[in-house]
Amino acid sequence: SSNFKQVVLGGGAVGKSSITMMFLQNKFISEYDPTIEEAYRKSLVVDDEAVTLDILDTAGQEEYSSLREQYIRTGDCFFLVYSIASKESFKECNLFRDKIYQTQDRNLADCNSPESQIIPMVLIGNKCDLEEMRVVPTLEGRELAKQWGIPFFETSAKEKINIDECFYELIRLARRY
Ligand code: GTP
Ligand code: MG
Repeated sequence: SSNFKQVVLGGGAVGKSSITMMFLQNKFISEYDPTIEEAYRKSLVVDDEAVTLDILDTAGQEEYSSLREQYIRTGDCFFLVYSIASKESFKECNLFRDKIYQTQDRNLADCNSPESQIIPMVLIGNKCDLEEMRVVPTLEGRELAKQWGIPFFETSAKEKINIDECFYELIRLARRY
């Protein structure tokens, strides 16, 4: 069975912990409790193959960002999460992706075409249940992911939309590298 270290990245309050909790425990918590850093392990079967996932749920709040380099360095695969109700969080995904390439010592210029996408990542637009608060159109998320050559999902941790799907997709990608 394979083992992957998965890191959940994104701005503050976009729903990183909520996505992780829904995947692991089928629970949604409506209060906001900012994360410093939480680690989880889950063994599961995806496409008839066993896998153990070490999930690192990281801090989106800037005051804890000093931990970032260390956990990005040790990660095998990444979620880039924004909220469809926050333009700022959407922009921040660019910064997180740049940081991944810088920290993992890859050449960013070489990684801007789909063919050379070598670090497994999935782009996630969370809170898709909040349609009335949407400021990031689905198309913009889809286009950004296409430009990066990575899969894209709109999710809702609250209504459990596309939660398992995005984890499975990242595992499939990680297996290829
Ligand atoms: P940090 O740990 O500070 O980086 O935040 P986070 O990205 O882990 O966000 P968290 O999961 O704590 O969620 C922030 C707030 O958004 C909480 O009040 C959640 O209940 C809420 N939330 C998270 N996901 C969803 C969602 O899909 N839909 C809705 N409506 N609310 C959500
Ligand atoms: Mg959190």
